[in-house]
Amino acid sequence: MNWQKNEFKRYLAQTSPEPMLFQPEKGEGVFLMDKNGKKYLDLISGISVSALGHCHPAVIEAVEGQCRKYSHTMVYGEFVLSPQVELAKKLCSTLPDTLDNVYFVNSGSEAVEGAIKLAVKYTGKREIISCYNAYHGSSTGALSLMSDEYYTQGYKPFLPEVKHIHFNELKSLDIITEKTAAVFIEPVQGEAGYLPADQQFLEALSAKCAETGCLLIFDEIQSGMGRTGKLWAFEHSGVIPDILLTAKGLGGGLPLGAFISSKKIMNVFSNEPILGHITTFGGNPISCAASLATLETIIDGGLLDTVAKKENLFRRFLTDAGLRQLTGKGLMLGLPVGTFEETKAIVVKCLEYGLITDWFLFETGKLRISPPLIISSEEIELACKIITSAFRDVFETD
Ligand SMILES: Cc1ncc(COP(=O)(O)O)c(C=O)c1O
Repeated sequence: MNWQKNEFKRYLAQTSPEPMLFQPEKGEGVFLMDKNGKKYLDLISGISVSALGHCHPAVIEAVEGQCRKYSHTMVYGEFVLSPQVELAKKLCSTLPDTLDNVYFVNSGSEAVEGAIKLAVKYTGKREIISCYNAYHGSSTGALSLMSDEYYTQGYKPFLPEVKHIHFNELKSLDIITEKTAAVFIEPVQGEAGYLPADQQFLEALSAKCAETGCLLIFDEIQSGMGRTGKLWAFEHSGVIPDILLTAKGLGGGLPLGAFISSKKIMNVFSNEPILGHITTFGGNPISCAASLATLETIIDGGLLDTVAKKENLFRRFLTDAGLRQLTGKGLMLGLPVGTFEETKAIVVKCLEYGLITDWFLFETGKLRISPPLIISSEEIELACKIITSAFRDVFETD
């Protein structure tokens, strides 16, 4: 182990007993390179972030351009910052009329926190509902929405009135009542192993929210920005949320998140009290410039139309190799492996063969396939060959 890996362990807070210790030196397209020049195909985009891959020229140009103008000033609510205005306008142009007002934050968890506050203040109710096996972030409010006792038990007390429903289970919807302020749901559950919501479930959920007067909140922090083949995963179903959450891919590799709603709902932040939600860095102008360049490249570059074809290629190569059916949608795919130990062994093998993948927080028996959207057919073939070799190595030596 080289000295810097020791210093990493010594000086940086650790979150697992056995970190991967991969040390990138440079990124280009879908590849990351280490100090020895070895190339690794990045199949997870750290995680579901780098939609345009690493060091995309459009993002570099936007970041450099904005750095030369100004980087930080008072970001929120008072000054007119054109990178924010342009990005908010562009985002709203991709959304239905009821999602026409954007609050920028720094991360996914912050988008969740903002949305919790917004829903509670707007409805005057406090009960929040989320799904079993949902992941909405690591801050205390977002963690309150998590059902998993293992990850939450040491961090309570949480928000007092949180209940859970089963993803894709219609009878679970009875839990939603007039007391409910909001229901949070991922249109494609992420850390449960990439599981899309059923059309019928989403329609029934939306009807129930309308009937009881609560807000429907779609967490598209992982599924947004084109990952499923539409810019927003909810477009596949036609079910429109009252609040949309985005982050991860939104910043084009820079930290940025947002919660998006109607002007009417968002107005509660500017009355009694004023300054209902404030931030020092949310909507940083450099992040917004990178985001706009990313969004324009995804839309104008026709990337969305390539995603379904790429999904099919992954499915074909891996099933032809005798592996199990992928779950998920677009370039948000999960490959069932077996036990956690087997999955981990495959992840380690893949790294040795030059491919970066991992497992999921609540589904440790599956591999994550969430590459940059720019991945080519040849790169998909290479990724599938590496995965197949890793499976052969791990299962044939068992
Ligand atoms: C669906 C979803 N929501 C929220 C979050 C939290 O985002 P962040 O890590 O930017 O706080 C994540 C992160 O993985 C996520 O996948």
